[in-house]
Amino acid sequence: MKNPVDVLSSSFAEHVFSAQRELIPDIDDFYELELAFYENQILDEEGLIQNGAYFARVGNSLTRHFQMCAGESLRLPEHSSSRLKSFFEKNIFRTGYATHGLFPYRGKFHPQMIKGIMNVMGLKPGDTVIDPMMGSGTVAVESALMGIHSWGFDVSPFCRFMAQTKLDALTMSLDRVRKAATNADDVFEYFRKRGCPVSGCKSAGPRYLNYANEVMEEPAEYLTGNLCPLSGCDRETAQTYSFLLLAYLDAAGYAERSTRKSPIDQFRSILDRYIFVADKIQTFLRQDHMALGQAHVSRGDARAMPIGDASVDGILFSPPYSFAIDYLDNDAFHLKYLGVDIEKLQDSMVGLRGRSLPEKFALYQNDMKRVISECSRILKRGKFCTIIVGTNSNQIGKILKQSPDEVEGLDEMLVRMGREKDLSLVRTMHRNIIGMSNTMRREQILLLQKT
Ligand SMILES: C[S@@+](CC[C@H](N)C(=O)[O-])C[C@H]1O[C@@H](n2cnc3c(N)ncnc32)[C@H](O)[C@@H]1O
Repeated sequence: MKNPVDVLSSSFAEHVFSAQRELIPDIDDFYELELAFYENQILDEEGLIQNGAYFARVGNSLTRHFQMCAGESLRLPEHSSSRLKSFFEKNIFRTGYATHGLFPYRGKFHPQMIKGIMNVMGLKPGDTVIDPMMGSGTVAVESALMGIHSWGFDVSPFCRFMAQTKLDALTMSLDRVRKAATNADDVFEYFRKRGCPVSGCKSAGPRYLNYANEVMEEPAEYLTGNLCPLSGCDRETAQTYSFLLLAYLDAAGYAERSTRKSPIDQFRSILDRYIFVADKIQTFLRQDHMALGQAHVSRGDARAMPIGDASVDGILFSPPYSFAIDYLDNDAFHLKYLGVDIEKLQDSMVGLRGRSLPEKFALYQNDMKRVISECSRILKRGKFCTIIVGTNSNQIGKILKQSPDEVEGLDEMLVRMGREKDLSLVRTMHRNIIGMSNTMRREQILLLQKT
């Protein structure tokens, strides 16, 4: 038996990682320690300093992740509860950095976890990663910050808009949004009128959203004080418009759910927060020497991606959890505002196709087979496809009229589909989900390798 003092005189982290590695504060989940352990094994010292997700210091150098996140977490309004403040402080290294916090999209990834996973998949600056179902674009933003190129697809035009706006906010000029923020009431009113077809104001009729050309279908008169012709719209105007529109949709979405604050008050504080986070990451990036990875986000279907065979270095995504979240219902306000034909969109949304629950589940399985087959086709041999998926065996059990313990979990189903397409499971990590215990308790991180 060892002398306890000999063991206890070094911390747990020192035993596992050496005294030269200091973990990021607030690691408290087992999967985070697992990712820290693997990235510490896989990356060399320089790689950890540049792109490590779970280390604050390596030798005498602070890591980029630490520096990018450190500092004031968020400028919250005076009256914010201490619970809210401590939530933001606690999550500063997990979720509260860069432009990830723009828009609270349901089911979005923890960006720090995505960074850790990309490291353990062996992705490095200059490689290309794909997110076939990108939602709010967490992979796109995170990989850009790591110098990794990316392509992201989602059938929802709102997701494309959100992802592009979060990417633009990393580099766009903030001068005009700051100016608009001093005029928040007028900006809010502009968007409010544009959304509701009131007399003299154009309604958002059904049309597809195509960034820059179609989001900017109307001139941003609040910027100039007079009506300027659309044809004169430059990139900076388009970016400013999208940034303000996302803040408006965020505020209007809140107002739909809660009456605690007036929509205009929501808009003012959301816009302030957006400007604060964009300014914080831009200040960091100005002093940083790494080139951002190029990110392309498009409207596209994960079941048929416009990507060549065996051409990408990694795939990382989270499919809709069958019927746990109805993305169309959640985003209905925003989609309608953008003039999207929701019924038409439903035809291509994995998990929402079909009428009865058994039909929906059958279609979900078929669709996911096609997505997995596409992932296998575009991935280079030896590279990883990582899928993050929750278990909702209770729901599936009800549909199949079986006990939840007997049904094949979504994770098992995806692993089986992967195996049939030359994607073999190398490692599973588990992550507990807090707050969704009725439908889902655990999320699995499945690392599949193209054989
Ligand atoms: C779990 S969410 C992804 C969230 C994302 N990981 C993030 O960080 O925001 C799943 C996404 O799949 C999208 N989706 C559904 N059917 C699709 C399809 N056929 N092709 C591409 N995306 C699809 C939904 O619109 C939704 O945004």
